[in-house]
Amino acid sequence: MLISFEGIDGCGKTTQINLLKEKFDFQEIKYISIREPGSTPISEQIRDILLNPRNTEIASETESLLFASARAQIINEIIIPALNEDKIVICDRFIDSTIAYQGYGRGMDIKKLENINLFAIQKVIPQFTFYLDISVEESQLRLSQNGLDRMESSGYKFFNKVRNGYLQIAKSNNKRVHVINGLKSREDIFSSILSILELD
Ligand code: TYD
Repeated sequence: MLISFEGIDGCGKTTQINLLKEKFDFQEIKYISIREPGSTPISEQIRDILLNPRNTEIASETESLLFASARAQIINEIIIPALNEDKIVICDRFIDSTIAYQGYGRGMDIKKLENINLFAIQKVIPQFTFYLDISVEESQLRLSQNGLDRMESSGYKFFNKVRNGYLQIAKSNNKRVHVINGLKSREDIFSSILSILELD
């Protein structure tokens, strides 16, 4: 089973992923957890290119393909082998990040991005996606203003488009994508997640 967490920067994904990992550890459920972009030596090198604030000249097409390349590498190196060993895979971001950030945020053609995603993931689709929804104002408050990476420096208007994109994605994939109010307490959010996963 593959579970992905999505949301704009500062939405609290990492906290929820850590709680879920603790739960799986406690129940002795076998899992692995990855973050995108990254998690393999090659994907981490791609991550450095993508997030380096000095790389201001990256074209949106390049950005889209690099995110997809990082994903293709994790799929081959980590996700497919883990699924074959019946492990649960927890992804901190997955395909929906590309549609929300590069599609709705940067304005790249969504259909083309979906095809690039499909090429990268070889039909591996999450069973559950948790989208933690917070306002852009809250996201900007939560991001420390120092040392923002290249994506985080994209500004209010960009994040507004990304958030609307996520809400649109959730609407069109309402069986898979669960919208969770990210302004609730971490305990409330976690108990919603557990009840959707039927682990409560
Ligand atoms: P990261 O530091 O991992 O952010 P977070 O902790 O919020 O997940 O940086 C990943 C950044 O890359 C984040 O701003 C979202 C962006 N991103 C895309 O634009 N497209 C993608 O396909 C993915 C996976 C991430």
